[in-house]
Amino acid sequence: MNPSPSSSGGGSVPARELWGTRWGFVLAAVGSAVGLGNMWRFSYIAAEGGGAAFLLLYIVMIALLGIPLMLCELTVGRRTHLSPIGALRELGGKGWVPLGFLFVVTGFLILSYYSVIAGWTLRYAAEAAFIGFAPDPGAHFGEISEGRAAIGWHLAFMVLTIGIVMVGIQKGIERAALILMPTLVLIVLGLAVWALFLEGAGEGYAFYLMPDLGELMDGTVLRQATAQAFFSLSLGMGAMLTFASYLSRDTDLNQEAVTISFADFGVAFLAGLVVFPVIFALGLQDSVTESTVGALFISLPGAFVEMGTMGRVVGLLFFLALGVGAITSAISLLEVVTSSIIDELGMARKNAAIGIGILIAFVGLLSARDIDFLGLADAIAGDLFLVVGAFCMSLFVGWFIKADPAEELARGAGEGFKRFIPLVIFLIRYVLPPVILIVLVFALQDTWAAITAFIVGS
Ligand code: PFF
Repeated sequence: MNPSPSSSGGGSVPARELWGTRWGFVLAAVGSAVGLGNMWRFSYIAAEGGGAAFLLLYIVMIALLGIPLMLCELTVGRRTHLSPIGALRELGGKGWVPLGFLFVVTGFLILSYYSVIAGWTLRYAAEAAFIGFAPDPGAHFGEISEGRAAIGWHLAFMVLTIGIVMVGIQKGIERAALILMPTLVLIVLGLAVWALFLEGAGEGYAFYLMPDLGELMDGTVLRQATAQAFFSLSLGMGAMLTFASYLSRDTDLNQEAVTISFADFGVAFLAGLVVFPVIFALGLQDSVTESTVGALFISLPGAFVEMGTMGRVVGLLFFLALGVGAITSAISLLEVVTSSIIDELGMARKNAAIGIGILIAFVGLLSARDIDFLGLADAIAGDLFLVVGAFCMSLFVGWFIKADPAEELARGAGEGFKRFIPLVIFLIRYVLPPVILIVLVFALQDTWAAITAFIVGS
């Protein structure tokens, strides 16, 4: 154990557990970031939005928006050693507590449907291992994505997630990340090398990476890139804040933020190097629809079926990697809610994780029974709440925090980074709020459209 003095004052409050090693924290945070969102969605947006030109734009956005916003969350977590509600209360006063609640509600809602999609992933991995992919992936997906079949795998995934979070930071989350993240990277790297030798791979790379500056001028692309960067980096709902609350006060946050962001980008980029050659090698590009779900759970399995035994092995590895990415992200979603309950209600970790996990699994049944509901939950929590959370967080750290953000950023920072602190503060105060506000206006429209479509459809 590596206890820290409790910052919340009360003599009877047990010392907060800290990460055992630097890598434990970094891998857990990368695990949160790398997930269902960037294994497919990123490469698809990149391909549609300007290829290699988009990749450059995305890197700039990560540096200008993603890293500063991540630093906002990390400083607040490390400074207070509290979960989001308590942290915002300590550094902002009562008026900021609702933002903490928004984070908790967002984590709760996202996990409820994320777990259903992760359940499909586990099922596909198991099918690849034991019976092979179904010959008609479209019809198969229709059968397994809703109803009893989906419920079973959703519940199994929730049990796994609860099992890890209830054990604690070092023995549960850190240990899982230390094993799972290198495994995921090795699998995706191996698959990317394998894809190099596919006939027709060149066309896939060309589709993915062909630079197209014209696309970049499209406002939608910029907006999508920003929203994708936040979702992919797990920003806007206190996940990074919560993980940073288990860090000792002298950690170099800047180095960690850069490492986490580029590792997340790296895995997303690599995943695209697997997906597109596979799809193009089999001439399935026309079956790839705009929908994330369709491409991932119908087009790709279709390609694996056509590749015979090799496809089965590769498909198994691919869905295993996806499942691993999903579980390490789900852990962080559950941890945001669990740690808030531990801090606010003084509950034991085990009881909190099990109790709240069961509740989330229960709400997730709605998404497991009805895929339209899943889409609605994603439009509300994944598209809108995250952006609202990101906007409020940048305002909070930029303008309202009862601490000196520059001083906080400098703590533990290397000399090289210290020179950039004024720039980071400038970005947090003057660039993040207006840019996120624009994204928020569009997100509101999209979410509203999704809500009305759901009401009309049901
Ligand atoms: N970053 C995860 C992904 O790309 O799939 C999703 C996610 C996890 C979003 C945790 C937000 C979060 F707090």
